[in-house]
Amino acid sequence: MRKGILSLTAAAAVMTLGLAACGSDGGDTSAQSSAAPAESKAAGKVGVILPDSKSSARWETADRKYLEEAFKAAGVAYDIQNAQGDKNQFQTIADQMITNGATVLMIVNLDSGTGKAVLDKAKAQGVATIDYDRLTLNGGASYYVSFDNTKVGTLQGEGLVKCLTDKKAEKPIVAYLNGSPTDNNATLFKNGYDGVLKPKFDAGEYEKGPDQSVPDWDNAQAATIFEQMLTEQPKIAGVLAANDGLGNAAITVLKKNNLNGKVPVTGQDATVQGLQNILAGDQCMTVYKAIKKEADAAAALAIGLAKGEKPAASGTVKDTESGQDVPAVLLDPQAIYFENVKDVVTDGFVTKEELCTGDFAAKCTEAGIQ
Ligand code: BGC
Repeated sequence: MRKGILSLTAAAAVMTLGLAACGSDGGDTSAQSSAAPAESKAAGKVGVILPDSKSSARWETADRKYLEEAFKAAGVAYDIQNAQGDKNQFQTIADQMITNGATVLMIVNLDSGTGKAVLDKAKAQGVATIDYDRLTLNGGASYYVSFDNTKVGTLQGEGLVKCLTDKKAEKPIVAYLNGSPTDNNATLFKNGYDGVLKPKFDAGEYEKGPDQSVPDWDNAQAATIFEQMLTEQPKIAGVLAANDGLGNAAITVLKKNNLNGKVPVTGQDATVQGLQNILAGDQCMTVYKAIKKEADAAAALAIGLAKGEKPAASGTVKDTESGQDVPAVLLDPQAIYFENVKDVVTDGFVTKEELCTGDFAAKCTEAGIQ
């Protein structure tokens, strides 16, 4: 499974190359302007399309920031836009970026079908392509940069087991709130947590409860779905929620039923909200993905491509639909519980100021956050 994953060292090497070969001028965030810095005339321009700002806080608070920093540091022109969950808008943005001179297009697809349409168009115009975080199935992007998403799911499954064990739950009924059915990552997350939980269901140790996917990772819809689950099965004793937003939706419903803190809930992304839910004891765990590393690795590839280089990727990921191997960089996720929330602060992903507000200040002290 891990065979062929591009090592961080290789990604770093690409990064260094990019940095050494280019000028120092800043990037370009507007869709219209395409003026590249004089000293990097030879370099092209990178277009990045983020998916939305609701399914997770990460896209606007972390990915945009770190990508911007990387492009600025390399003096490569860039344009980062957000499709706000709109597939037509996604295509329009891509068309505009290509018209405005993008030579590299990096996308976080909203689904594989529309993602592929965008990648195909880009390729037809000689624009290099990178799948960022989500693999576009049958998309044929030149590179894929993400985390080991099956491992993310494994950590979630193990996390739920740990929290249920801590609570001495007996034959707990476990509900699944899966990510968007059109996101390949959601499939990988589920493969990961199923790998941990299914043997427990099969052994009769745990009971499989309701299992539903949340369209577009929509948090509001997740609350409605979970409310229904709990009405139909009031004995749900654990919730495998695929990210912090879905987890928070479940927690909101549990709160209304005085079950928060009693029923462990998982998450992902180490968002401020998710971490605060952990500090409050309402969320069992989250998965921290060091997005700076992901952004840096993707930017390093993009910068190399923008300079007309062919950055090498020593690893690959199999596209399950086309059967092709896509050159890839996959990073390692980390499980976060109350005890190590501080690691996320130490890493600079969230600040003490944003996390330890109001009532959370005392909890932060308890969790050793200085
Ligand atoms: C990402 C997660 C994110 C989710 C919703 C997934 O593809 O890997 O980090 O929480 O999409 O945006």
